[in-house]
Amino acid sequence: MGAMNTKRIAVFISGRGSNFRAIHDEVKRGIIRGKIVVIISDNPDAPGLEYARSMGIRTAVFEKKREESRDAYFERILTLLERESVEGIVLAGFMKVLSRNFIHKYPNRILNIHPALLPSFPGVEAQKQAFEYGVKYSGCTVHFVDEGVDTGPVILQEVVPVLEDDDEHTLADRILEKEHVIYPKALQYFCEDRLEVRGRRVFVRPEG
Ligand code: GRF
Repeated sequence: MGAMNTKRIAVFISGRGSNFRAIHDEVKRGIIRGKIVVIISDNPDAPGLEYARSMGIRTAVFEKKREESRDAYFERILTLLERESVEGIVLAGFMKVLSRNFIHKYPNRILNIHPALLPSFPGVEAQKQAFEYGVKYSGCTVHFVDEGVDTGPVILQEVVPVLEDDDEHTLADRILEKEHVIYPKALQYFCEDRLEVRGRRVFVRPEG
């Protein structure tokens, strides 16, 4: 459990940053053996940035220039990640699709959370999609990022029932509570090198 094993993590956000907070809480408690070395945002007004600053965590804002290609944009970010020797990347409400080159630099090293039970309802407004479809159960999924949108190997999922008096917002709130449980858990396993990917399946190795 020594500091030597602490993984260097970058968290990417675009907005509120509640998943980042939940993860940071578990880092502070020593449950996640990781160090959040930088918070990266594509949005200078992301409320999560203020929280990071208040916690003394380094922040970096990367706004995409209109004429800039996706590749060039992510190359700028890669330069920072490489300088900081980042070993794991946590996408927590980050609203941009990563470039191919970026993904290839970090195979099975980029985690994402999606507010539905994948492969159902990928893409944006997943909670609304699920609500409007009329499913009785939805939930959330932590997965590794591959080249598709929300298609990578599933690490953890949690089921959330859709209640009769739900609307898309109450459903989203209850899903978010579960996100805050499974995302830190998945990152904990990642930092302990306990995630083993075999094809599409991810196995959590026993402790120790
Ligand atoms: C969460 O619902 C997450 O599943 C989705 O974006 C939202 C981010 O919320 N990818 P927050 O910024 O972590 O509060």
